[in-house]
Amino acid sequence: MCGIIGYVGPRPVQGILLEGLSRLEYRGYDSAGLALQQPGRAAAAVLKAVGRVDCLREACGGRDEALGLGIAHTRWATHGEPSEANAHPHADASGRLLLVHNGVIENHATLRAKLLELGHVMRSQTDSEVLAHWVGRFYEASEIAVGAARLRAALDKALELVRGTYGLAVMHADLPGVILGARLGSPLVVGIGQGEHYLASDVSALLKQTREVLYLDDHEVVELRADGFELGHRRGVGRVAATCVVDWQAQDAEKDGHAHHMLKEIMEQPQALENAMRGRLDFEQGTSVFGGLNATPGQLRAVTRVLLSGCGSAHHAALVGEHWFESIAGLPTEVEIASELRYRQLPLMDGTLHFAISQSGETLDTLAALREVKRRGISSLGIVNTVGSSLARESDGGCHLHAGPEIGVAATKTFTSTLGVLAMLALHFGRLHRLGPAEGMLWVRQLQALPDLMRETLCCHAQVSALAPRLAEAQGMLFLGRLACMPVAMEGALKMREISYQFASGHSSAELKHGIIAQVSEQVPSIFIAPHDAVFEKNLANIEEVLARRGPVMAITTQGGGQALRQLTDAVIELPACHALLAPLLCILPLQLLAYEVALLRGCDVDKPRHLAKSVTVE
Ligand code: F6R
Repeated sequence: MCGIIGYVGPRPVQGILLEGLSRLEYRGYDSAGLALQQPGRAAAAVLKAVGRVDCLREACGGRDEALGLGIAHTRWATHGEPSEANAHPHADASGRLLLVHNGVIENHATLRAKLLELGHVMRSQTDSEVLAHWVGRFYEASEIAVGAARLRAALDKALELVRGTYGLAVMHADLPGVILGARLGSPLVVGIGQGEHYLASDVSALLKQTREVLYLDDHEVVELRADGFELGHRRGVGRVAATCVVDWQAQDAEKDGHAHHMLKEIMEQPQALENAMRGRLDFEQGTSVFGGLNATPGQLRAVTRVLLSGCGSAHHAALVGEHWFESIAGLPTEVEIASELRYRQLPLMDGTLHFAISQSGETLDTLAALREVKRRGISSLGIVNTVGSSLARESDGGCHLHAGPEIGVAATKTFTSTLGVLAMLALHFGRLHRLGPAEGMLWVRQLQALPDLMRETLCCHAQVSALAPRLAEAQGMLFLGRLACMPVAMEGALKMREISYQFASGHSSAELKHGIIAQVSEQVPSIFIAPHDAVFEKNLANIEEVLARRGPVMAITTQGGGQALRQLTDAVIELPACHALLAPLLCILPLQLLAYEVALLRGCDVDKPRHLAKSVTVE
């Protein structure tokens, strides 16, 4: 999704902006642009390019002596095709004010029509240009003396007209030392340096420069200068600006010798899970401990139902979590797709505890679900990877994943880390309700063993690579699993779709004969996730049904399941033994690798899949 970086300080600007933009590449985009304002120049230099940040780099040429300030943007098209005209920054009518914008201006059509009536000439199809023209219009008409206050007042007036969301940065040729930023519903963070300041939509853009940051809240406006910043609130009283230090390192966002971020992130899952569990497993009490739930044991004991919400992979993780809350904690649990929850008439019982799940913490639908559930008086906790993200700040408490930055667009390590956190939460509630210390201790040991089991599982990479060619040319494929492995089938299919663009769908294998079997053919392989568990024999029967219809079959199982499966198909991957309920944490790994290998065979850009964005900050 769109990215913003801005810089004001003593160093050459262009290189800093391009470096920041390339750190935002992982979010997904189709064009990029930047504006540089040098002191004494009548207007800023603006450069834009369709395609990769490298295309913009080329357009900029090697020169980088421009001092002053600049703003830059990667665009993910919402209004208007990817083109230079639609790329940001957008200028106002005078050409002296430039603006970059993330989010969606819902009433842009009305605002545009009004501008056209007033004689403005619009150069793009975007909603963002409309905003630039309105800010410029108010600036030109203002009676306030030229200075930052005049630009702030104009921005304020323009934002009053807007219905929708924004994270934006504005600069004006009259003010070669000032960038203004404003936020409503689309993230914006200030980076604090020595005699220099940054503005970005995502902390990853800043990691190379600074780790001291300030996250803006909705309705806040910031005035950024080289020697400081001033924070204001458009609706109410300002707050004391408390900065925080991000503990991610710049090298966490690099590939570390792997061909792709996605492969690196798949391979680092055992470590990521260890990080998620560090200090949270209590070996004495046979439970898990969380510092951020912000509730007493009594309040947590009073929870009688659990509601889990999220989108995409977070939703699939929630579906696995549902099994755990029910089986380990004995708590009735419901899972809602966050994008649906916000519009549903959902009866919410007293005693419900809501967990909103989002690796980015910025998914608009998940935030909206959180706000709706909170508004109805239900306590809502976040399960989030990004410290300081909107979800982390707006929830009543929660847990961070500590997975480090996930740069590959497809969620991998954040999926398994979310599972780890959900399993520990289920144990925590289990120990409050029905599990004795001995049983609790057994779960603690099972959880503790998982990272090593994952390491062992990842050794299947070569086997997976050998199977990938069978799927690369398939017409489509089915992913099938049962119980807690049904969401794993859904997640495996999602990875395949996202990365390789192959058609894939994930289902309960129990549903095969209720319709899905109609898809089975020689050209449509079925991938069964069939750990050696209580429903293993049922999966075997389903496999027989597929084979009887000439459908090719691959199977992922755990120790003990290999022998029976190898009698049916030569494509079996046998993983280490583990508790049946925890098998999802192992079974998803070969599916991630499979999607990766199939995508490579099909020549896809694994880290930047088409049409996708890492953080979906629009509805
Ligand atoms: C899947 C994927 C998406 C996200 C979804 C939610 O690989 O990346 O389906 O899982 O957009 O994102 P977060 O977790 O950031 O809320």
